[in-house]
Amino acid sequence: MTVTENPTPMGFGRMHRKEDARFVRGKGNYVDDIQLPGMLHGSFLRSPYAHAKIVSIDTSAAEALPGVKAVITGKTLETLNLAWMPTLSYDTQAVLATDKVRFQNQEVAFVVAENHYIARDALELIEVDYEPLPVVADAKQALAPGAPVIRDDKEGKTDNHIFDWSAGDAEKTDRVFAESEVVVAEEVLYPRVHPSPLETCGAVADFDKVTGKLTIYSTTQAPHAHRTVYALVAGLPEHKIRVISPDIGGGFGGKVGIYPGYVLAIVGSIVTGKPVKWMEDRNEHLTATAFARDYHMRGEIAATKDGKIKALRVKVLADHGAFNGTAQPTKFPAGFFHIFTGSYDLEAASCDVTGVYTNKAPGGVAYACSFRITEAVYLVERMIDVLAFELKMDPAELRMKNLIKPEQFPYTTPTGWEYDSGDYPKALKLAMDMVEYDKLRAEQAEKLQRGEYMGIGISFFTEGVGAGPRKHMDILGLGMADGAELRVHPTGKAVLRLSVQTQGQGHETTFAQIVAEELGISPDDIEVVHGDTDQTPFGLGTYGSRSTPVSGAATAIVARKVRDRARIVASAMLEVSPDDLEWEKGKFFVKGDPDQAKTIQEIAMAAHSSLELPEGVEGHLDATTVYNPPNLTYPFGAYICVVDVDPATGQVKVRRFIAVDDCGVRINPMIVEGQVHGGLADGIGMALMQLMAFDEDGNHLGASLMDYLLPTSLECPSWELGETVTPSPHHPIGAKGVGESATVGSPAAVVNAVLDALKPFGVRHADMPLTPSNVWRAVQGRPIRT
Ligand code: CDP
Repeated sequence: MTVTENPTPMGFGRMHRKEDARFVRGKGNYVDDIQLPGMLHGSFLRSPYAHAKIVSIDTSAAEALPGVKAVITGKTLETLNLAWMPTLSYDTQAVLATDKVRFQNQEVAFVVAENHYIARDALELIEVDYEPLPVVADAKQALAPGAPVIRDDKEGKTDNHIFDWSAGDAEKTDRVFAESEVVVAEEVLYPRVHPSPLETCGAVADFDKVTGKLTIYSTTQAPHAHRTVYALVAGLPEHKIRVISPDIGGGFGGKVGIYPGYVLAIVGSIVTGKPVKWMEDRNEHLTATAFARDYHMRGEIAATKDGKIKALRVKVLADHGAFNGTAQPTKFPAGFFHIFTGSYDLEAASCDVTGVYTNKAPGGVAYACSFRITEAVYLVERMIDVLAFELKMDPAELRMKNLIKPEQFPYTTPTGWEYDSGDYPKALKLAMDMVEYDKLRAEQAEKLQRGEYMGIGISFFTEGVGAGPRKHMDILGLGMADGAELRVHPTGKAVLRLSVQTQGQGHETTFAQIVAEELGISPDDIEVVHGDTDQTPFGLGTYGSRSTPVSGAATAIVARKVRDRARIVASAMLEVSPDDLEWEKGKFFVKGDPDQAKTIQEIAMAAHSSLELPEGVEGHLDATTVYNPPNLTYPFGAYICVVDVDPATGQVKVRRFIAVDDCGVRINPMIVEGQVHGGLADGIGMALMQLMAFDEDGNHLGASLMDYLLPTSLECPSWELGETVTPSPHHPIGAKGVGESATVGSPAAVVNAVLDALKPFGVRHADMPLTPSNVWRAVQGRPIRT
C-alpha cells in the first residue's frame, strides 16, 4: 500500500485540498443543509405548455389545504412590481408568468407551505386554464415571416429578433476570400447542452421585519453582483441585504444568473414573515435553468492550395430561448465569440451573430467557458479539419503550418484580441510526441486494411480568461474588478477575504498558497473567507475561469502590500533603513548579515506591539486592494484524442486522450490536473452523449438524467496529461486561468477523432452529439438528429 503524501508547500506546489477535510467527512454545508427555526418550503407550479395564453388561475383549493401558508401568482407579484425581473443581458424575464407562458416548465405559481410535501400536494390543486399558442421550437424558424411573436410583452415587438452583432473587418475578409485559391464552407451546430452540476439551484431567504435585514443563502457564483441586483430590483437598501453562498456543488456558469426561485424565496419570506427554502429537483433544473450553446454556425475558411489559411468568415444564429438570460459583458452580446480565429495567424476575419427568441428556457450561459469561447474554438477546430479533408492534408501538419509563432506575441487577432503569451508549436509538438503521432497514423492505416476504423482527432485552443478589464467588461453595468483583504493576526496567522466564490475548484487551498508564496506563512495558517457579502470585499464572482487571473492577482498584490508594511516594521525592529533589508520567503534580514533577521511572525507581533514606528506608519500589517486586470490571460492547449468506431453499431470508444495545457505558472499542479480531468470528461459528454432536444411543440425531450446522459468513468480513458509553462507577462504571479480550458478544447478533439475514423466513408462533417445512432446515420449519409 502506498501512503499518499500530503506535503504543505510554503507556496506553489502539489498540496491536498484543505477543504476536502470537510467534504470527505460529509461535513460540507450546502444550501439544502440550511435549517432555520420556523422555516417554510416553497415549490413551483410549472407550465406543461411551451407557449400558451393564461386565461385564468384558481388557487383557492390550494390555499385551503392545511399547512399551506401562501400561494403566490404573477398577479400577486404585479402588485409588488416584481412580476418581471431584469436579466443579466438587459432583457426582462417573467418571475411568474402573468400574460402567457413562453417555455415548457416555466414558473406559473409558487406555493409556500409547512413542508415540501404539502407544498407539492398543493400544486396539484391549482387550476390553470391555458389557451395553447403556436410554438417556435427551432431557431431557424424564429425569424420566418408569420412566426408567432414570443415576446409580445415588449411594446411594439413584432418579431423574435434580439440582436445583430458583428466583429472583424468584413470588407477586408471578403477581399481576401475573393483572392483565395481554396474556399471551404460548413454548417456547424453546437447543440444546446446543460451545465448540470451535482447540486441543483436553491435558496433560503430570511427577511427580518424588525431590522429590515434580508439574509439569503443561495447557490450563487456571484454573491456581490446578486446583492446589488436584489437591491436595485426590490428597492431594499443594499447594506441590509446579506447574500451567503455556502458550499456549492458545482456551478459551471449555471449559477451566475438570478432565477425566479431566488426571488420567490425572498417574496415568500416577506409575505409569511418566516424563512423560506426553495430547492429545485433534477427535472426542474434540467428543464428550466441555464442552458448553454445552441449556436447554429456557418463557417467559411479561405486558404492557399498548400494549406496557408488566409481568412475566416462566420455567420451565427444564436438561440437564446424565451428570455435573453445570458451573462455576457454588455459590449459583447455574443460574448467572446469573436475569438473564433483561434490559435492561427490569419490575415482577416469577420463574423455576424444574430440572436433570436424561441419557446425554450433562457439559454446562452457560459457553461464552463469564458463567454462563448467554447463555440468559437469548436467552430475553428472543426473548420481546420474540414479544410484538411478537402486539401487531403494531415490535420496536425495543417495546424503546425498556421499556428501563431512564439515571436509574434503579444499577438493581436484580426478581431481585436491581444493574446498575451504563448509557444503554440511547442505544445502541439509535445502532444504529438506523447501520443507518438506517426506511429499512430501507421497503426490507423494498418487497421483500416483489416476493416477497423480508428480515428485521431486534434484540437488546439486558445482561451481568453480573467474578465475584466473593467473599462471593457461589465455585467449589468458592474465593472469586472475584484477586491481582496488580508489580515495578519499578532501571532502571524492570516485571514484572506475574497470576492470570488469557489464551487469546488479548491480556492481555500490555492489562494492560501498564493499568500504563502508571497509571505512565507504556511497555507495551513491562512484562512480563506469567501461567499458572504457581509464578510468579503466587492467583486464580480467566479465564472469564466476568472478567479486566478483576477482575484489571484489581487491576492498576490494585497500580500505584497502586507510585505511592504512588514519591511517598515522590520526596519524599526532591526534599527536599519527599510532599503537595507532583503526579503527571503518568510523573513527580512539585513543585507550582508543574514543572522540579523526577523520572521514574518515576529514582525506581525511587533506590528501590534508598542514598538515605535516611523512617522506616518500606523501599526498592523493588514491591507486591502482592488485589482482591475489590464488584459485577459490566454491559456492554451493541444489535445489529441484516439477513438475506435464501429460503423455497424455507431459505437465510439475513446481509447486515449492526450492533453497538453499551458496555464502559465501553476499554483497547485494537482488541482490544475483535476480541473483538466473534469473538463475532458465534460468534452466527451458533449461530443458523444449530451443533447437537450425539443419536439416541434416545444416539449423538452431530455428532462431527466436517463435521457440527458452525463459521462462517467466508463466513457473516459485514463487521461494522459502534459504541460508547458508560458507565464502571463501582465499577471503578478504569471498565472493564467485553467478551470474551463479542457471543456473548451476537448469536444473538438473528440468529434475530429470520430470524423477522422469515418473519413473512409466520405464523411466530412457531422454534428454533435455523435451518439451511436448519429454515427450510424453519418455512415449511411443520413441527416444527424439534433
Ligand atoms: O475561476 P475558477 O476558479 O473557476 O478558475 P481558475 O481561476 O482557472 O482556477 C481553478 C482552480 O485551479 C483554482 O483553485 C486555481 O487556483 C487553480 N489554478 C492553479 O493552481 N494554477 C493556475 N495557473 C490556474 C488555476
